[in-house]
Amino acid sequence: MKKILFLFVFLVVAGTGLRADEGMWLPSEIILKIKDMQAKGFKLTAEDIYSINNSSLKDAVVHFGGGCTGEIISNEGLLITNHHCGFGQIQSHSSVEHDYLRDGFWAMTREQELPNPGLTVSFLEYMKDVTEDVLKGYKAGMPEEKRIEIVAKNSKAIEEKAVKEGKSLRATVKPLYYGNQYYLYVFKVFTDVRLVGAPPSSIGKFGGDTDNWMWPRHTGDFSLFRVYAGADNEPAPYSEDNVPYKPKRFFKVNAKGISEGDFTMVYGFPGRTNEYLFSDAVKYTAEKSNPHKIALRTLRLDIQNREMAKDQAVRIKYASKNASVSNAWKKWQGEAKGIFKMRAIENKQDFEAKFTKWAEGKPQYENLVAKFKELYAAIEDLSLVRDYQSEALNAVELIAFAGRGQRGAERFYKDYYMPIDKDCFIALYKAYDKNIDDKYKAPYFKEQLQKFGTVEAWAEALFTEKPNMEMAAEIFRETNRHFNENYAPILDSVNKEITLLYRTYMMGQMEYNKATRGTKVFYPDANSTLRVAYGQVKGYSPSDAVYFTPVSSLDGVIEKDNPEIYDYNIPQKLRDLHAAKDYGQWEVNGSVPVAFIATNHTTGGNSGSPVLDAEGNLIGVNFDRVWEGTMSDVVYDPEVCRNISLDIRFALFVIDKLADADHLLEEMVIVK
Ligand code: ARG
Ligand code: GLU
Repeated sequence: MKKILFLFVFLVVAGTGLRADEGMWLPSEIILKIKDMQAKGFKLTAEDIYSINNSSLKDAVVHFGGGCTGEIISNEGLLITNHHCGFGQIQSHSSVEHDYLRDGFWAMTREQELPNPGLTVSFLEYMKDVTEDVLKGYKAGMPEEKRIEIVAKNSKAIEEKAVKEGKSLRATVKPLYYGNQYYLYVFKVFTDVRLVGAPPSSIGKFGGDTDNWMWPRHTGDFSLFRVYAGADNEPAPYSEDNVPYKPKRFFKVNAKGISEGDFTMVYGFPGRTNEYLFSDAVKYTAEKSNPHKIALRTLRLDIQNREMAKDQAVRIKYASKNASVSNAWKKWQGEAKGIFKMRAIENKQDFEAKFTKWAEGKPQYENLVAKFKELYAAIEDLSLVRDYQSEALNAVELIAFAGRGQRGAERFYKDYYMPIDKDCFIALYKAYDKNIDDKYKAPYFKEQLQKFGTVEAWAEALFTEKPNMEMAAEIFRETNRHFNENYAPILDSVNKEITLLYRTYMMGQMEYNKATRGTKVFYPDANSTLRVAYGQVKGYSPSDAVYFTPVSSLDGVIEKDNPEIYDYNIPQKLRDLHAAKDYGQWEVNGSVPVAFIATNHTTGGNSGSPVLDAEGNLIGVNFDRVWEGTMSDVVYDPEVCRNISLDIRFALFVIDKLADADHLLEEMVIVK
């Protein structure tokens, strides 16, 4: 094992440094990249980014809730993240009398800060390579099942031991490079986290789903929270007696601003990427899975949008659902487009042909490509069946609700509008009937369709005045049972083989790269663990004859402003501030900067991540990527892959001029 590990690290080092800006790096191994970072303008050291002995930048970065990143910006536990990351909390405190989504919310005193049961903020204490311990007892050649068992057992023991070493700790062991390496992550988890401020949605979600995934962008996508601790500064359950947490480290805010070419670094928790896929997997995504899933979501969105336009109450009920259906729908379109434009499938096929040639006579690599082909072919049909199970059969709200035993009934009905769901049922079940091969359809589906004659007639029986919950539950149970009994086991076992193959292929790609003196960079796929990405502020050309500059401003907000269009209707106060040019100290060239793009490699989960300058000060908050670059989850193109960040000065302007919440500015350290 030692030998393999050594080889592995060696290859990582050897492969670095040439291609620009691609990569999500492990903070604890940032020493491998620090020269390149410094060459690109970074002024600090590896130890400043991540240190176990001293406070470092990592101590100001937090995992916010389940899926976002946040950062601490004052000595009193003040935290900034995206508006869309705090959306659930802002919504939960809202009522008709206090609509914080519509009007915004600003706590003017500590007493007014609002607790959020269930919300956690986790600080990474340390991370550590535990590969040897995780694989203790495993011997090469053991069946994959056995390896999985050993890894699970050892990981659990490692986690339990780590958690015992302190209070309020959470530990998790995660595989990197498909299980070539394992890392332990230990977090300190705070549970008393209070809402401090949020702009109105007309700022925090300005541009809505129309502008989502797009540049130029003018969204003030931020919200503020505060971490509270017990008297000992340790995590404590919510209590009035708790006090603001004194962090080991917080970010200073850089109000001097940025310009094109400046160094930037994003420090956060990217969720999932797949950069080392075999060509057939990319082909399946771009040519089959994405088009089908997009078409299914188009059906739902058309129905939702039609009904939402008719009735304000329906618009409110479906605002959040519509946003989440549309978010991935739009991303998949950009992703497929980007994959084709980059000829990613063909490039991978070329590589695989060369790899196969090189692998001749190397027993562990020789048959990889053929084996991949065989395994992917074996699950292609079933993968589509799985996509339809989740995006069609289970996507009907009533059926999913019945399927989870009607849990959360109050919330479900509050935001439910049956005419939408009924039309979705008709559209989605027809699509399943049409696009899924008869031999894969659930027998129950076929029987019911036969019984009712048409999907419409079936819908009449299901969506009666009081919906037929028993029927909905039966549909869920029977179609999922068929899938789980007949297809899931095949998918599972083939996917296990595929993972095993990738573990070898990963090593193979690295060895090949080294042997051929290639320039490919290697970094572990994102897996919701802390990473560093770095790059520079930079515009891009999305298509022929078009060039986008990298910074947007309040003037652009005003250009888009339109009281008639929900997504573009800004608060009157913002119009007034603009008319009076009342920008205070946040004025730059007669306007206020709003957002900027840069070449940092990010993905979902990086929302809310600190965007830092060369000195490690906060210049922005990451919230999105440009549409043309969303294929960076699979293949990164330095020409068009850009992350989108809120310019921190826009947040400061809103806090100062719109909210009059100067007390919040006072607790920050603002570098001017
Ligand atoms: N596209 C961003 C992300 O993937 C923002 C999503 C929230 N905003 C929205 N308009 N749906 O999470
Ligand atoms: N908005 C995304 C998030 O919530 C970040 C955008 C992306 O996928 O890069 O994490």
